[in-house]
Amino acid sequence: MSQTVANDLPGIHWPAGLNRVPYQVYSDEALARREQSVLFEGPVWSFLCLEAEVPNVNDVATTFVGEAPVIVARDPDGNLNAFENRCAHRGALLCLKSHDNTRRISCVYHNWVYDLKGNLTSVTFQKGIHGKGGMPADFDRQQHGLRRLLVANVNGLLFGTFSTNAPPIEEYLGPEILKRIKRVMHKPVKVLGYIDQGLPSNWKLYMENVKDPYHASLLHTFFTTFKLNRLSQPGGIVVSESGAHHVSYSMLEGRDKASEYEKTELRAKKEDYRLADPTILDGVDEIGDGISLQILAVFPNFILQQIQNALAVRKVLPKGVAKSDLIWTHFGYVDDDAKMTETRLKQSNLVGPAGYISMEDGAVGGFIQRTVAGAGDSKEIIEMGGRGVEAGLHDTRATEMPIRGFWQEYRARMGI
Ligand code: FES
Ligand SMILES: [Fe+2]
Repeated sequence: MSQTVANDLPGIHWPAGLNRVPYQVYSDEALARREQSVLFEGPVWSFLCLEAEVPNVNDVATTFVGEAPVIVARDPDGNLNAFENRCAHRGALLCLKSHDNTRRISCVYHNWVYDLKGNLTSVTFQKGIHGKGGMPADFDRQQHGLRRLLVANVNGLLFGTFSTNAPPIEEYLGPEILKRIKRVMHKPVKVLGYIDQGLPSNWKLYMENVKDPYHASLLHTFFTTFKLNRLSQPGGIVVSESGAHHVSYSMLEGRDKASEYEKTELRAKKEDYRLADPTILDGVDEIGDGISLQILAVFPNFILQQIQNALAVRKVLPKGVAKSDLIWTHFGYVDDDAKMTETRLKQSNLVGPAGYISMEDGAVGGFIQRTVAGAGDSKEIIEMGGRGVEAGLHDTRATEMPIRGFWQEYRARMGI
C-alpha cells in the first residue's frame, strides 16, 4: 500500500488475499472519491449505451461514467462521439433528456453552444454588447470543448474511456468474454424499453450480487419453485484472463429431474406450485446452443443479460456511497416478429425492480447496506469455491470466484 493511499483512506484495513472484504468499502467517502478519479476516469472501458439508442445522425443519449454525466452523440458525419455532459462555462448539465435528436447542444444557463463532437462553437455575447464587456480578446473557444471520451463499438455495445491509456477494447475484454458478447450481440438489435431502478446500496454490492452464481437459486425462489435455474443444472462460470470479468451460464434440464433441492430444507421444496399462466416460461432456444441463461459482467459496472429470451444490458451507476441507479435497457433483434417481441416482453417480467426473479437482488443489497455502518472492521467471507481466482471455465456455480476476481481487479486498479 502506498503512502498516498494510506493517507487518503485511513479507515480501511484490508488483509492480503481475496477471501475477505471489509464492509467499509461500501461506506467510505474517500474511497468513493478515489473510485471516480482512479477507476472510472482511469484506463477502464465503461459501458455507455447500445448503438441502437443513437441510430441516426444527430441522435444523442445521456449516461454516466461513474458519477460523471456523459453525452453520446452521432455527429452529422455518422461518427459516434462521447463527451462530458457538463458545460465548460460554469458547469450546468447540458442535455437534460435521456435521448434526443438535435444538431447542436446549447446550455440553458448562458447559451454556450457545442457541436456533436463536443466542440464549443459559440459563446453568447463573446464580444460584449456595444463594444463593452464580453470575454477577453484572447479567449479561444477551441480550448474549451467538452472533455472527451474514446468510444469503442463492440457488436453494437458502446464503451467509453476518459483515459488515453486504456488498452484496446478487445484486449480489455479478452477472447472468452468477447466470444460470449458476440453470442448475444450476433445481429442488429432494437430497444424494447427501459427500467431505471434506484438501489438503496453501494454500486459494488450489486456487482457482487451479479458475480455471485451461488445465490441465484437460493434467494430467488421463483427460479427453484418453477425449476428455471438450479445449481444442479448443467452450467458453470467463465472467468476472464484478468479475473475482472465473468460469465455465468446454465442450460435447461428436464423439469422433473430430482436434485439436491428435493433432499434439502429449502423454501421452495414444500408445495408444488403451478403458474396460472405458464406461457411466461415458453422460451425458444433461439441461439441454438441450449444455454437458457447467460449473465456476463464486464468490469467495472456493466452486465449483459440473456435469461431465456429476455435480453438486456444493465449498468450500475454510483450515486454517492450508499445509493446507486440500475439502468436496464431491454432489447430484441431488428428482425424479430411480433410474437417474438411479445415473448421477450413477457419474459422481461422476470427481471427489474418488481421482477419475479430479480426483485430480491435490489432488496438484498439494501439489507447489507443497512448493516455496514455498525460493522466496524468486520469483513465479508468470500470462500465458496476456494480462496483464489483462476481464469477459464469452471463447471460449477457453487462458487464465489467471480466476486474474488472483481476485488482482485478493483484492488489492483485502486492501489489498495
Ligand atoms: S453554465 Fe453553460 S453557458 Fe453558462
Ligand atoms: Fe440475483
